[in-house]
Formats: sequence, structure tokens, C-alpha cells
Amino acid sequence: MRISPSIIATDLTTIGVDAAGYDPAVVDLLHVDVMDGSFVPNLTIGPGFVKSLAAHTDIPLDVHLMIERPELSVESYLALNPEIVTIHYESTRFPARLMRLIRERGAVPGVSINPATPVESVFDILPYAGLVLVMSVDPGFYGQSFMPEALRRIERLAAFLSANGLDGSVDIQVDGGINADTIAAVVRAGARIVVAGAAAFKGGDVNAAVAELKRRAIS
Ligand code: DX5
Ligand code: ZN
Repeated sequence: MRISPSIIATDLTTIGVDAAGYDPAVVDLLHVDVMDGSFVPNLTIGPGFVKSLAAHTDIPLDVHLMIERPELSVESYLALNPEIVTIHYESTRFPARLMRLIRERGAVPGVSINPATPVESVFDILPYAGLVLVMSVDPGFYGQSFMPEALRRIERLAAFLSANGLDGSVDIQVDGGINADTIAAVVRAGARIVVAGAAAFKGGDVNAAVAELKRRAIS
């Protein structure tokens, strides 16, 4: 199980300096929420900011694109060599083509589904995916409450992956409202990469917060 702290929950004006203190042995990935003010009702950062961030850390980047028509700008993110690039199923008519492009460029292709999108929607394109991101909140903001329906959704997806021999090639990621009280249940349901925003950054010591989440995940 890996934890990917969502950087929008910290002070982005100082993250270049702060990131030097993130311990790569503890902080597995950095989750970068790109929001366009259209697909979601919030606007965050773009490729220029992500490029600057990448220059300040060796921790692999996990880019979550919450933008309309990701095909128009995905290349700018791929150029930064992130480990993962995730697009939203609801944001494009061509998720399979996009995931194929992401894989060709050497990143893990992720497809994300909002809480209102049945997990079954992506079953037919799983051969193109390296990861499915099950949203456990409606995306747009950090600090929202976990939607418990996500647990059954993760279980349905995990069952389909193992029944079809895809569990070795497609990871399940979960994002939204993960904290010390909710993490064990999502890991038990089958999530292998867990995003945490508020819970990772609220105390000011991300290394300690992530280590504690990992302890709670297996408790
Ligand atoms: C939600 C974002 C999440 C968010 C997570 O739209 O995709 O990554 O920052 O923050 P928490 O863990 O606080 O819900
Ligand atoms: Zn996210």
C-alpha cells in the first residue's frame, strides 16, 4: 500500500522549499490535483507549476487531471515524467486512446470515476489502464467527508479485476476524505494507492502524518 499526499491541502506558495523535507522513504508519491474551474468548480495549478515542483523533489508525481478535454494538455504533463497520469472517465470521449498515449510516454495510465459513475463503466477499457482511481468524494476540494458507498465500489472493482486476471496489472487508487478513521476500510476493500489531503498536511508534519496513516491502514 502506498500513500500519495495531495499537495493542494498545503501552502503552495512554499511547497518548493517544504518538499525538500518530505521523506521519500515515507511519502511514496505526491498527488497533484489539476483543476480547470470547468470540469470541477475550482481552479488550481497547471503544467508550469508542476514543472517547478518537479525540480524540487525526487518523489514521483501522481498527476490527477480534473479538466475538460485532457487530450489538449496531457502532453505538457507527460513531458515532466510523472509516474502516474490520471484522466477522468467523465471528461473525455476517448479515455482508451488517452491511456494508450500515456503508457506510450512511459507513465502509468489512470482512469478516474466520480461517485455518480458506476465502476462498471470502465470495465471494458481496463486493458488500457494501469490504475483506476475511485473518487470517494465529488472532486473539487480537499477536506470533504468520505462517502462510504466507495467501499462497495472498490470491492466490486477488485472482484472484477481478480476474476479477469487483471489484478496484477491494474491498481486501485482511492481519493477523498481519507483519514485515520477511514483508511483501514478502503485498504481492506482493495485500494493499493491511497490519496490523503487534509489528513496528510493538517498537523504541519507530513512525514509523521503519513507514517501514522500507514500504521492505521493495517490496524
Ligand atoms: C478532490 C481531490 C483530492 C483532494 C483530497 O477533488 O482530487 O485529491 O485534494 O483531499 P482530502 O483527502 O482532504 O479529501
Ligand atoms: Zn485528487
